[in-house]
Amino acid sequence: MRPLVPPYVETLKPYVPGKPIEETEREYGLQGVIKLASNENPLGPSPRAVEAMRAASQAVHLYPDATSFHLVRQLAAHVGVKPEEVVLGCGSNELIELLLRTFTTPEDEVLLCQCSFPAYRISAQAHGRPFVEVPMRAGYSYDLEAMARAITPRTRMVFLANPDNPTGTAFGRKALEDFLAAVPPEVLVIHDEAYAEFVDWPDYVSAVELFPRHRNLVALRTFSKIYGLAGVRLGFGVMDAGLATYVQRTRMPFNLTVVAQAGGIAALGDTEHVRRTRENNLAGLRYFEQELPPLGITLTRSHANFVFADFHRPALELYEWLLRRGVIVRPMAGNGFPTCLRISVGTPAENERCVKALRESLS
Ligand SMILES: Cc1ncc(COP(=O)(O)O)c(C=O)c1O
Repeated sequence: MRPLVPPYVETLKPYVPGKPIEETEREYGLQGVIKLASNENPLGPSPRAVEAMRAASQAVHLYPDATSFHLVRQLAAHVGVKPEEVVLGCGSNELIELLLRTFTTPEDEVLLCQCSFPAYRISAQAHGRPFVEVPMRAGYSYDLEAMARAITPRTRMVFLANPDNPTGTAFGRKALEDFLAAVPPEVLVIHDEAYAEFVDWPDYVSAVELFPRHRNLVALRTFSKIYGLAGVRLGFGVMDAGLATYVQRTRMPFNLTVVAQAGGIAALGDTEHVRRTRENNLAGLRYFEQELPPLGITLTRSHANFVFADFHRPALELYEWLLRRGVIVRPMAGNGFPTCLRISVGTPAENERCVKALRESLS
């Protein structure tokens, strides 16, 4: 008898999310636990988005607009592209799956950077797509030259997280343009920009700017980070209109809820909330960069809303020590970095509490 489950699902290691606050409070008998584990917005959602979602919830007995007409138009105007170049997803995670489903077959290979965002590997494997992983360079950054060399006639899709999660490192315009020049036009390059709005580096370039010259280039963005809507599940891709029509065919019509569409529109309009979030993040990054290295912790240069901290010793114990003190961070052992923790930027008070707990644990 054939097994009920295909071998690629049988061997699939599921994604391990950050530990929820409520679960930690229950397990450790604590109150006032803080979570710096999932790169969420520490300032919360935009109050305007909350209000819009409350109003929209009056109509949740009706199916949502399957085309997300208003949100698509607003987004397109916001990033400076045509509405037909935008595809919405239930989080950018869904777009990763949609792109794999739409453009690859089980005979194609997917090219990944080893130890980068695990959703690419999980989604490829869940669809039975073989993948090849290229190690990072020393210093935890993408090795785009090695990735370009790893492309074979079987390669159909490449995923690049820029800035990267979990390392926070980024590559600039020249590196991306050189890579695109080396990639055959029939290989799709997915440039995942989940943290783009936090970047404060003139060398950085978005695929939203480059895709009109590269038909095989797709930008992925999310409302889960700077817009503070991780719980609503809203992401989008920007790509050539021709490619977008194929993704629209494989997308389920009601993947975006009534509430998500309303929240997205209002969050986009709340530029003040975005500005405050960005400022809080830059200040938080500076704070961690000042406080952690004197404790013997090495940080990468983070371009995102978290720091990637190498403790130069197994870090799982530290993670548990922090949990017992009500501070949830993200252990990285399962991602291939046993001596590292990823710490999301919180409010100033949360960052201070985390540093204080780390200082105590290391002394
Ligand atoms: C690099 C990267 N891409 C995509 C996502 C997924 O975002 P979403 O919540 O939109 O599915 C994340 C979330 O952590 C991420 O770090």
